[in-house]
Amino acid sequence: MSALDIDLFDPEVQENWYSAYERLMNEAPVFQMPGTNIYVLTRYDDVYEVLRQPELYSNEHEKYGAAVLFQYQSAKDIYLEKGWRRWHPLSLDPPVQRQYRSIVDPFFRGRGLKTIEPFIRETCANLLDKIAPKGACEFVAEYAVPLPVIVITKMIGFPLEDIPQLKIWSEAWAHPFAGNLSEADEIRVAELGVEFQHYIKDQIDQRRRAPQEDILTTLTQAKLSEGRALSDDEIIHIADHLYIGGNETTTFALSSGLWIMLREREIYDSLIADSSRIPAFVEEVLRLESPTQGLYRVPTEDVTLHGVTIPKGALVHLRYGAANRDPDSFACPHALDLDRNNLKKHMAFSQGPHTCPGAALSRLEQVISHEMMLPNLANLRLTNGRNDFTHLPGFVLRALKELHLSFTAVA
Ligand code: HEM
Repeated sequence: MSALDIDLFDPEVQENWYSAYERLMNEAPVFQMPGTNIYVLTRYDDVYEVLRQPELYSNEHEKYGAAVLFQYQSAKDIYLEKGWRRWHPLSLDPPVQRQYRSIVDPFFRGRGLKTIEPFIRETCANLLDKIAPKGACEFVAEYAVPLPVIVITKMIGFPLEDIPQLKIWSEAWAHPFAGNLSEADEIRVAELGVEFQHYIKDQIDQRRRAPQEDILTTLTQAKLSEGRALSDDEIIHIADHLYIGGNETTTFALSSGLWIMLREREIYDSLIADSSRIPAFVEEVLRLESPTQGLYRVPTEDVTLHGVTIPKGALVHLRYGAANRDPDSFACPHALDLDRNNLKKHMAFSQGPHTCPGAALSRLEQVISHEMMLPNLANLRLTNGRNDFTHLPGFVLRALKELHLSFTAVA
């Protein structure tokens, strides 16, 4: 099979991307997916160069006529008729996007992180308390999903008791990333998206009446550098972007982390022996099993890369998951190496102006989680006979469906 026969929508390819990536890197570093206007880049240097040139590779897909998430006008109309148009201030190109980032970034670093750290510890402890007496758990549902959801819900300021409903909206938001949705599916996603918008609007109104110590309140009080306050429309879309970013992908990173740690027993042993290696472990998991495998940009003029001309307005798909295993950037790219000298070079959180604002929060959640879990769940192991280690189907996100763990039960 040549690289040109690779079907990146084939569930079998998606289950284990990495041989396909290797062939693409070697044989077709600019790969036009057959029958589409999507050009996939897999080499680290190419992906990096695109991310560093936002004026040539725009993140405002629709402005250049490219449709990424919604294909059907009927679904897009639902936002216009019943809610707010679907746009994301943070997804705009610089310099406009920079104004929004300067408001959002401080929530997730420095004092913002310090303030939330005790709550992360408390949430991990509560989840572990529920699991520990049982001697076994399904890690994704019982731990990896609730931890980041509870943390981001608290930070944004949504009531914790609304989490079951918020999770439904959040999963619907992420659903189009699977690609190839039917019209009925897109309409359902749009209906849920509009419900979420109205819910956020109601929360904004409450904060305007009674300010709290949370991100929503800060957004209602924030001023853009041009001097005006954010509109409800802007706040709704910033809040829903942060909410979704804040939970789905960290769930995937936590689950992949446990899977890798326990299938390579010497890694588990080395982390038990020396917990100061956990931050390095987290970086390697992000590199090896990048939760966001790829995202899009649109060239603002025709560009030629490796002899292939990509027309203005086509979709350039940046494959972070492949770039993170590029042998020209990472020695022995498929091996987990806690002593790698470029541990943070990976692009699991992207690069350039759209670098993930929640990267430090996600890292903190993962590190605290592993630090607290290892001593509290003794003799942690993958449950024999209950795991098939399969992933949810999808082109963009990489997520284990389930992960059954066993350990010594404690009273
Ligand atoms: C393991 C966890 C996470 C991964 C792998 C991840 C990945 C990414 C990636 C790859 C991007 C760049 C998008 C692009 O290049 O266009 C991004 C952007 C973003 N992420 Fe994350 N993220 C994670 C956690 C979080 C958290 C915890 C939050 C919220 C607190 C968050 C919020 C966002 C937002 C709002 C953006 C858009 C930023 C912009 O376009 O300026 N993410 N994330």
